[in-house]
Amino acid sequence: MNYNKKTVKDIDVKGKKVLLRCDFNVPQDKATGAITDDKRIRAALPTIQYLLDQGAAVIACSHLGKPVATFDSYVKKQAEKGKDPASITEEEWKKSLKKLSLAPVAVRLSELLGKDVIMAADVVGDDAKAKAAALQPGQIMLLENTRFEKGETKNDPALAKAMADMAEVYVSDAFGAVHRAHASTAGVADYLPAVSGFLIQKELEIIGGALANPKRPLVAILGGSKVSSKIGVINNLLEIADTIIIGGGMAYTFSAAQGGKVGDSLLEADWQDYANDMVKKAAEKGVKLLLPVDTVVANAFAADAESKVVKNGEIPDGWQGLDIGPETIKLYCDAVKDAGTVIWNGPMGVFEFPAFAKGTEAVAEALSQTSAITIIGGGDSAAAVQQLGYADKMTHISTGGGASLEFMEGKELPGVACLLDA
Ligand code: 3PG
Repeated sequence: MNYNKKTVKDIDVKGKKVLLRCDFNVPQDKATGAITDDKRIRAALPTIQYLLDQGAAVIACSHLGKPVATFDSYVKKQAEKGKDPASITEEEWKKSLKKLSLAPVAVRLSELLGKDVIMAADVVGDDAKAKAAALQPGQIMLLENTRFEKGETKNDPALAKAMADMAEVYVSDAFGAVHRAHASTAGVADYLPAVSGFLIQKELEIIGGALANPKRPLVAILGGSKVSSKIGVINNLLEIADTIIIGGGMAYTFSAAQGGKVGDSLLEADWQDYANDMVKKAAEKGVKLLLPVDTVVANAFAADAESKVVKNGEIPDGWQGLDIGPETIKLYCDAVKDAGTVIWNGPMGVFEFPAFAKGTEAVAEALSQTSAITIIGGGDSAAAVQQLGYADKMTHISTGGGASLEFMEGKELPGVACLLDA
């Protein structure tokens, strides 16, 4: 895939209406609806500010959560969850949509920008169209949640065209959603000149650069609970990396595959052959594959569980591995010391429990001390680095969860492929 895309700087936006796709899919407090982390809104500010300074009229849009766009589908979904279809009302469905309104995002964006953000009541309805038509250079409006339209996730050309009709230029800065071929992330580019904002540009430059032409040695640290969710990444990185480090729950599937005892640890029995194939493939390709040599086990999956350190492959029944052990920490930290680039995706253990966060913390600390380019995939690893206080020590923390994973898998990203080549 070509990552070299035109950006807002390559196109004249003065006096133009710009449809700007952001990823404002922010976490909210379940009870109050308050935004609990505005990082994604802040991440869009440089592009928004640039467009406004250039004299563009900005029509921002985003999805939020996974609303069910029609009442019929809502009834179906609730029925699947065991609810009696006859008891489901339209009011209930509308309430579920209201919870996913972008109105609170407009308020926060307005505070951050220090200027009014005009909120539209719909995506391509009368209100959005009228507000977009009246929008002046230097003003910004926000469309309602794009997933309120049933055509959004289906990449319906009619919806894409209706969105495009409100604007003259399309700018995408929604890195977190570039793996989605939706109307607002990809389809709209069929109808407007399409370029990237600064956030996508940075993600492409740093992650794309590390994958295409890394400063070596390239060390990939892969953790998280399941091998099955990391297959694509392991496969792709086996072609690129010099060293691959495996931690987290998925290490126990590797251990079991090699005949080790894993007790009650997470195990994906069906993936053991795959794990063995990966070990073989790494050896054939000359990629150093590091697996844990010891592990911290607990007698329950709980923050206050009893714990001890055992050798890898020797986990007694009734115990489960929740973190890498001290010898593994040393081995892994040594491996990143002289790295040129480190890509990290997935925690080393259950870092949410302080007693089992040592492996993840030690790796984060080691990364903060190396002179390597350090890239943290979004999602759990980004959360871990932030929670443990190492965020500002990393070269780059991706704003994309699924998007950065698919990027590292080497997959084509529809929200990037649709942009004009530089
Ligand atoms: C994310 O949170 O990773 C992005 O906003 C994409 O959201 P989605 O998984 O609902 O498409």
